[in-house]
Amino acid sequence: MSETPHSEVLSDRPVLVVDFGAQYAQLIARRVREANVFSEVVPSTMAADEMLAKEPAAIILSGGPSSVYEDGAPKLDPALLEAGVPVFGMCYGFQAMVQALGGTVERTGLSEYGSTPAQVSDTESTLFNGQPAEQSVWMSHGDSATSAPEGMRVTAATSGAPVAAIEDDERRLYGVQWHPEVMHSTFGQRVLENFLLRGAGLSGEWTAANVVESLVADVKETIGDKRVLCALSGGVDSSVAAALVQRAVGDQLTCVFVDHGLLRSGEAEQVEKEFVEATGVDLVVVDAREQFLSALAGVSDPEEKRKIIGREFIRVFEQAARDIVGSGEREGHPVEFLVQGTLYPDVVESGGGTGTANIKSHHNVGGLPDDLQFKLVEPLRLLFKDEVRQVGLELGVPEVIVWRQPFPGPGLGIRIVGEVTADRLDILRAADEIARHELSAAGLDRDIWQCPVVLLADVRSVGVQGDGRTYGHPVVLRPVSSEDAMTADWTRVPYEVLAKISTRITNEVREVNRVVLDVTSKPPGTIEWE
Ligand code: XMP
Repeated sequence: MSETPHSEVLSDRPVLVVDFGAQYAQLIARRVREANVFSEVVPSTMAADEMLAKEPAAIILSGGPSSVYEDGAPKLDPALLEAGVPVFGMCYGFQAMVQALGGTVERTGLSEYGSTPAQVSDTESTLFNGQPAEQSVWMSHGDSATSAPEGMRVTAATSGAPVAAIEDDERRLYGVQWHPEVMHSTFGQRVLENFLLRGAGLSGEWTAANVVESLVADVKETIGDKRVLCALSGGVDSSVAAALVQRAVGDQLTCVFVDHGLLRSGEAEQVEKEFVEATGVDLVVVDAREQFLSALAGVSDPEEKRKIIGREFIRVFEQAARDIVGSGEREGHPVEFLVQGTLYPDVVESGGGTGTANIKSHHNVGGLPDDLQFKLVEPLRLLFKDEVRQVGLELGVPEVIVWRQPFPGPGLGIRIVGEVTADRLDILRAADEIARHELSAAGLDRDIWQCPVVLLADVRSVGVQGDGRTYGHPVVLRPVSSEDAMTADWTRVPYEVLAKISTRITNEVREVNRVVLDVTSKPPGTIEWE
């Protein structure tokens, strides 16, 4: 599958975040955008002239795990500091900058990790203007700068780092030893904003909402008068991507929604009715519920289930695509493109730049046969999830879809521990609907990353309901808090909310006589049970 050339979707000159390793760069890029300034992550291995060719409005050097004087440590090309572009170094980036400009970085034996008090010596400086003289900063360093480069003022210190912040307004070069991007640095965002707005003189007018126009224009140009397909899952990403493309090219877009019967209560209807009404997309719904159920009959192994669901999805989508390509083709208007809801974190994680992102296997329509080769349109590839939500709202995508929590592609298929059957799906859907309703009613939607409800279909336990003994199934509530699903903690849902969910499920869903709460973090537990 070929990739559309990456055009400048967002015409603003970016703030480049140079990634020196570890996990900081993406977070920095998000913080920059929170200051309404457009940012892009580039690897530190990218050549300086390539970075400068992007005409960056400013450059931020991220933290990283190495020591600047180590063999093989990522290098900072001094050309970046001499190009007249404002630069801000953080942690490793700060040390690399100090070293490149002629200061000294050494292992002093005074390492600092975690929350550390910093003394600001000039509260009117570019970085610290409007902030208190003492602030808590998040440190993570074994090496320290012991002397500042010539011509740079030292504007903050900690007990382990006498040179903890440097500033040079003439060359517009700045740096701090700590991590302003993490929340534990109490004035971190203010320091970053001061760099962007005061140091680099940027205007802070970039918002996800006002990029809609440029995204739409870009999609229009890419697609021209060709036709385009989109596999709609009901999730945020594919819905917003489809809404955007439909805004750009109207009914040249056809969306395919495969109803595999593994969605939660009401979700298929939300796509088929509300989404279509709100956005006007041309939607083909394929009712493949029977096909998925019979393919899953007798299967309990989770990976086997995933494979089957993935395989059936491709089959159904392929058939629908063939029908659309074959039937609706207008002279000179072949179906040439496929919309994908790839987001920026996928792009960065797969090496940044123009590489195709890793698409989760069950959604991976990349393995389509030769007669169904499409070019990809990925209109959200430069946006983070929260920005995608803003774009969605701007496009009028229904709020229930925009604010939908993550839901796995194989759906309820991997939330039934045991074989998937129509009856079991009904039981799980009923329990899940109650849990979702009560968590929303308690105002917890935004505190919870997602809350799988899991049916332990092969487990039975004894209970008593009314006058009789029961022998029913347990369901597990798995509310988790997370930033990115890589790690997670169980959400401390108030007891009274849990009590209400438990009472309602056991009263209203006849086959369920126990509700249990999963209190495991990730790791060691994953979010889903299968
Ligand atoms: P785990 O269970 O690995 O889940 O902690 C991390 C995140 O990924 C989702 N998930 C999936 N999403 N296909 C998907 O599209 C899958 O097979 C799959 N398995 C887990 C899960 O809901 C969570 O958000």
